[in-house]
Amino acid sequence: MRLGKLMVPALCAAAALAVLAVVAERSSAEDAVIEQRHEAMKGMGGQMKIINAYVEKGEGDPAAVAAAAMQIQETSGKIPSLFPAGTSMEDQPGDNEAKPAIWENWAAFQAAAAKLGDLAGATAAAADGGDKQAITDAFTALGKDGCGGCHSQFRQKTS
Ligand code: HEC
Repeated sequence: MRLGKLMVPALCAAAALAVLAVVAERSSAEDAVIEQRHEAMKGMGGQMKIINAYVEKGEGDPAAVAAAAMQIQETSGKIPSLFPAGTSMEDQPGDNEAKPAIWENWAAFQAAAAKLGDLAGATAAAADGGDKQAITDAFTALGKDGCGGCHSQFRQKTS
């Protein structure tokens, strides 16, 4: 009988753990993709710094600029897949700045990602040409219309 009394709370605890496990599993798939897109975005931030160092301070060389721009172009193609439905800042609050507008205007979001790819390609082409003014102009457009063009519509900056 003493065992029987202990069994009930033990079963309740087991059931509660099972529920927690399901909740944790569900949010971890979404957390994982949110984490992945943060890494992808931060990676592009690093590439932009490399290009900026050349443009602003003459550090590095056009070949480094071209490599960084090509990386951004490659990442741009992955952006849509990093924003599956159900991962907006309202669906998954916390460390998440993805506005629901992304999924309400999915074609525009995809176009913004494609535009980033085009502008990154243009920056790489300018770097291949080696003309610093052309590189600077392409980089300015890349930041303003590429990154900024999407962020201004679809990212809710919280910090
Ligand atoms: C097609 C849209 C789009 C483009 C283009 C884009 N971003 Fe983002 N970016 C977002 C969204 C949406 C978020 C918020 C995502 C989140 O919090 O999950 C974000 C977040 C970020 C963050 C914050 C990441 C973090 O850890 O919270 C950085 C840094 C960033 N972007 C850099 C860039 C840079 C640099 C570029 C251009 C080279 C760029 N992004 C281009 C949509 C875009």
